[in-house]
Amino acid sequence: MNKVSLRKLKKLDKQYFAKWWRDKDLIALTSGNFEPISDKQVEKYFFNILNDKKAFHFMIIVNDEVIGHISLSKKRGLWYETQVIIGEKAFWSKGYGTEAIKLIINKARRLNIPKIYLEVRPDNIRAIKAYTKSGFFLKVKKYYPKNKNLPETTRMELPINHYITGNKSKFKIVKTF
Ligand SMILES: CC(C)(COP(=O)(O)OP(=O)(O)OC[C@H]1O[C@@H](n2cnc3c(N)ncnc32)[C@H](O)[C@@H]1OP(=O)(O)O)[C@@H](O)C(=O)NCCC(=O)NCCS
Repeated sequence: MNKVSLRKLKKLDKQYFAKWWRDKDLIALTSGNFEPISDKQVEKYFFNILNDKKAFHFMIIVNDEVIGHISLSKKRGLWYETQVIIGEKAFWSKGYGTEAIKLIINKARRLNIPKIYLEVRPDNIRAIKAYTKSGFFLKVKKYYPKNKNLPETTRMELPINHYITGNKSKFKIVKTF
C-alpha cells in the first residue's frame, strides 16, 4: 500500500466532487439520493464545504493523486461526526480508507476532540469493516422514517476519551486524552 496523506481543500477540487456526486455506485453506498444534480448545485454544495466553519475537510491523497474526501464536523456537545468517501473506485479495498480514518483520528486527538461517531448504511460491509479496523464500535441503529433514501443507519462510535487501535483479533488502548 502506498502512503496516504490528507490535505486541505482547494477551489480546483470541485471537479472531483462534481464527478463523485454523480456516480451511481457512490450514491447507492451513501445518500441513496439519485436525483440528478446540476452544475449550479455542485457549485453551491462545494462552496458550502469550502467555507464550512464547523468542520474540518480534507482531500485524501495517494501518490500525489486525489482519491477521496474525509471530514470531521462539529455536532451537539463534544461530538464530532466523521464522513469518508474514496471516490476513485480503483482504490477501494486496498486499506486507504482505513488509513485516512486513522489520520483524521490523529488530527482529532491533537485538536482535543474527544468524541467521534459516524453513520453508515447497515449493508455497507466494506465501510463497516474499515471503521471497525480503525477502532470504531458501539453500534446502534438510527431510524429516519422521513428519509426514504436512507431510513436506517448504523451509528458507530470511537470510545470516549480513548484512542483505540488494533486489528481484528485485538484492541489496545494506546493513548488517552
Ligand atoms: C468505505 C470506504 C471508505 C472504505 O475504504 P477502503 O479503503 O475501501 O477500505 P479498506 O480497504 O480500508 O477496508 C475494507 C475492508 O473490507 C473488506 N471488504 C471489501 N468488500 C467486502 C465485502 N463485500 N464483504 C466483506 N468484506 C469486504 C476488505 O477486504 C477490507 O478488509 P481487510 O483489510 O480485512 O481485507 C471506501 O470503500 C469508500 O469510500 N467506498 C465508497 C463510499 C462509501 O461507502 N463511503 C462510506 C459511507 S458511510
